[in-house]
Amino acid sequence: MAKQDDDFRKVISHAKEYGYVFQSSEIYDGLSAVYDYAQNGAELKKNIRDYWWSAMVQLNENIVGIDAAIFMHPTTWKASGHVDAFNDPLIDNKDSKKRYRADVLVEDYVAKIEAKIEKEVVKAAKRFGDAFDKEQFLSTNQRVVEYQEQAKTILERLGKSLEKEDLADVKKLIEELDIACPMSGSKNWTEVKQFNLMFGTKLGASADSAMDLYLRPETAQGIFVNFLNVQKTGRMKIPFGIAQTGKAFRNEIVARQFIFRMREFEQMEMQFFIKPGTQQEWYEKWKETRMKWHLSLGMGSENYRFHDHQKLAHYADAAADIEFRFPFGFKELEGIHSRTDFDLGSHEKYSGKKLQYFDPETRESYVPYVIETSIGLDRMFLSVFSNALQEEELENGTFRTVLRLPAVLAPTKAAVFPLVKKDGLPEIARNIIDDLKWDFNVLYDEKDAVGRRYRRQDANGTPFCITVDHQTVEDHTVTIRHRDSMEQKRVDISELRGIIHAEVDMKTWLQRMYDVSEN
Ligand code: GAP
Repeated sequence: MAKQDDDFRKVISHAKEYGYVFQSSEIYDGLSAVYDYAQNGAELKKNIRDYWWSAMVQLNENIVGIDAAIFMHPTTWKASGHVDAFNDPLIDNKDSKKRYRADVLVEDYVAKIEAKIEKEVVKAAKRFGDAFDKEQFLSTNQRVVEYQEQAKTILERLGKSLEKEDLADVKKLIEELDIACPMSGSKNWTEVKQFNLMFGTKLGASADSAMDLYLRPETAQGIFVNFLNVQKTGRMKIPFGIAQTGKAFRNEIVARQFIFRMREFEQMEMQFFIKPGTQQEWYEKWKETRMKWHLSLGMGSENYRFHDHQKLAHYADAAADIEFRFPFGFKELEGIHSRTDFDLGSHEKYSGKKLQYFDPETRESYVPYVIETSIGLDRMFLSVFSNALQEEELENGTFRTVLRLPAVLAPTKAAVFPLVKKDGLPEIARNIIDDLKWDFNVLYDEKDAVGRRYRRQDANGTPFCITVDHQTVEDHTVTIRHRDSMEQKRVDISELRGIIHAEVDMKTWLQRMYDVSEN
């Protein structure tokens, strides 16, 4: 646990030191669970967004993108169920006065059981060496089987109690598990209560005429209310999808873990409209497609897993998370939800407008069913950034910090260095920048010895460093150094564009979606 905390602290401080993420309003001591993306962070975030948008919109003829407003008519949230059902079960500790999400307290308890299982697996793998069969171990080792059974029973009970809104049983479960306040160790708990997560605001100048609004807690509703407009103007035929990226706001009570859970965050969502009855098939298809998108980034298939929901949101008939191994363990990164016709049906009822699709083949109208894919951009950022940050021991026994970002996502693709600040070398380096900048984000650096400049760019995640030296003046060649292998090659200046392009080109990365397997 301590190592995990330490690794995570390093991620947060590296994000600050290298201009990726800052605490919001830091000069006023910051605002809790609100963060700003700095010069490199904004680029990384944009690249992730583009990678998602290209995979979802550009590569799918039947998916289009929109950009709906954050403010929406307040009835939207009544229809969507958020006014009545977008709640978290909260519990206060009477001694420490700290407030917690009751379900998170239980889930954290289960995470500790899972950590014990993981520990047994690691121990056994060491003991049995090559002969170790993880599946067999998980299903036969008495202690591990008991741990798994225990975790399953707890989660099932939590799921059922939440589903039935039996908050008294959630409290009972916390007491039975003997869960203590993580701050004070006290077990003196209040009752569990529901708390709505939407932020309210007002539209209009005068107090009498001002309208109560909510900041949207998900981007999806902007898609639902535009369903018919897009279908008609885009002449879309079912099955088709509408995608969008944008800010969402939630008054998270337990906002923690850096940018994992924030109050203002960005989502990348896609609603896929289908014929009723085909939802199972499309749900499986989108689970698989989205997993392939993740795997295409090469961050290790062992770092992802599916988690099927026991407790379903008010709109869903099936739901799964794609979980990622964050520095603090496996947690939700993306959700895939079968939302039935709940949203469109409800908007029909509240608006009095028909939100139906006329099928030209059967000549019937129906309210489409929806499969949703929903990923938090900030969480995706954290998965990419935390996975990339590595301390590496070199052959000479020294260490380097390297940010092995997937090259397609790296904020800066190449840094260009003149070996010295004289003899015409800076001018040549500047000319290289002027040429490459039309295709890539590149930067110039002449400060410090070249070795230190390499280390700076390694830590910054820059895939290539290009050094201009005295030989360049003679023969127009430079050295290009690769961040991950640290290999250096002498190449002609005219080859640089091709070398960088081959490594960072989005097409090559996205094509891996069609080759990668989940194993
Ligand atoms: N439209 C469905 C929906 O919003 P969700 O599971 O509540 O579903 C989807 O959210 C994704 O949005 C999550 O998987 C997560 O990546 C991201 N997300 C949700 N709440 C967040 C928060 N407070 N901070 C950062 N990301 C969040």
